[in-house]
Amino acid sequence: MSEKLKTITPAKGWRPDSWQQKEASQQASYPDELAFRKALQRLSAMPPLVTSWEILSLKNQIAEAQAGKRFVLQGGDCAELFDECEPTIIANRLKVLLQMSLVLLHGMERPVVRIGRFAGQYAKPRSADMETRDGATLPSYRGDLVNAPEFTEAARTPDPDRMLRGHASSAMTMNFVRALVDGGFADLHHPEYWNLGWLEHSPLEKEFERIADSIGHSVRFMETVTGMKPGSLRRVDFFTSHEALHLHYEQALTRRVPRQWGWFNLSTHFPWIGMRTADLDGAHVEMFRGIRNPMGIKIGPGMSASWLKNLIRTLNPDNEAGRLVLIHRMGASQVADKLPPLIEAVSATGSPVLWICDPMHGNTEKTESGYKTRRFANIVSEVEQAFDIHATCGSRLGGVHLELTGENVTECIGGARDLDEQDLGRAYKTTVDPRLNYEQALELSMRIVGKHRSLS
Ligand code: PEP
Ligand code: CO
Repeated sequence: MSEKLKTITPAKGWRPDSWQQKEASQQASYPDELAFRKALQRLSAMPPLVTSWEILSLKNQIAEAQAGKRFVLQGGDCAELFDECEPTIIANRLKVLLQMSLVLLHGMERPVVRIGRFAGQYAKPRSADMETRDGATLPSYRGDLVNAPEFTEAARTPDPDRMLRGHASSAMTMNFVRALVDGGFADLHHPEYWNLGWLEHSPLEKEFERIADSIGHSVRFMETVTGMKPGSLRRVDFFTSHEALHLHYEQALTRRVPRQWGWFNLSTHFPWIGMRTADLDGAHVEMFRGIRNPMGIKIGPGMSASWLKNLIRTLNPDNEAGRLVLIHRMGASQVADKLPPLIEAVSATGSPVLWICDPMHGNTEKTESGYKTRRFANIVSEVEQAFDIHATCGSRLGGVHLELTGENVTECIGGARDLDEQDLGRAYKTTVDPRLNYEQALELSMRIVGKHRSLS
């Protein structure tokens, strides 16, 4: 047994169903108990979506990011939809993430860990269990894993077969992503494969071409000097992540595997706990405590230093490297006040964590015409402030967590094309939170590089 394994112990008193003894918030209530049990039984027998060695490889990469040797890019939809499990949408999302990672890799001079919010991001927390419209009250939409968004009784009634559809759609997404990546789609020799049509005529086109050319040049130079064609340049890793909210679904995919100790959540490489379900004594924290995956915790302005320290003690009692990622999402106007005391509290524990910034969820607002939107300027501001705050507190910002899409949507205001409130109606497609479109996402990665350079 290696030194590392000896010091990491299985969680005491934990079982895959021990969360059921705790208060579980944000769970759906299924009217047909028998159908629910049957679907869970079926799901428990189905193949997993990821493997333990991929999970442990990601954990190693996160440990390297904790040591400042990598930067994490986590991004994708707020909520995936079953109807959007189709090749163009999946490929475009992958292209944006690849292009952003190229910009980050080039500008920060370190490998980027790419984690998609995809292949399972189907369950959503809601502020209320029920929704009332014109005098009628129905269960809230909790994501495609649970029910459908239309405001009818049939659509909103939680349907257990959706868990099986969620598993199948995640598997199809994964399969397509793996096939693209293995087939050379992500080949660093050919960044032009990742171009999305509308980069042409974009104010960012020249800058991106310059970066892509420079990387192509470096790759060829290295091959000439070493006389080798490293396989790793033809193939990049992609990991999956989702909010592990629906605990029965997560339990059905939490398994033991041969030749490894302990339990893995094999529904995703990197599950995270949302801001609304991080109660120390709640069911979600209990579920996460016993799995060996690396995991995220969303940290909002309501988080206290003692709460966070207790979460770290509960979720990473052995101070294992690569296990914990703290995803802060304070909002541009609050990050300067709220973040420093938390960084200081965590540093005092000596426990290794990776801090990453989600500049989306603290910057959501409603326009007068009723659109939920986010201002690009606030998103950039929160990330830039986060870089400064970490540097001042002797810590390090190790990544970003973003809601984005490869489609040409108009959901966030601002950016190089200066979208304004009037533009929102043109291509507003999200059913949940507003996402950066392709161009805004690429521009954000350039701004991140600019900020990073100004500090180093
Ligand atoms: C989300 O990531 O879509 C989300 C709901 O975030 P948070 O838990 O941070 O509000
Ligand atoms: Co969201």
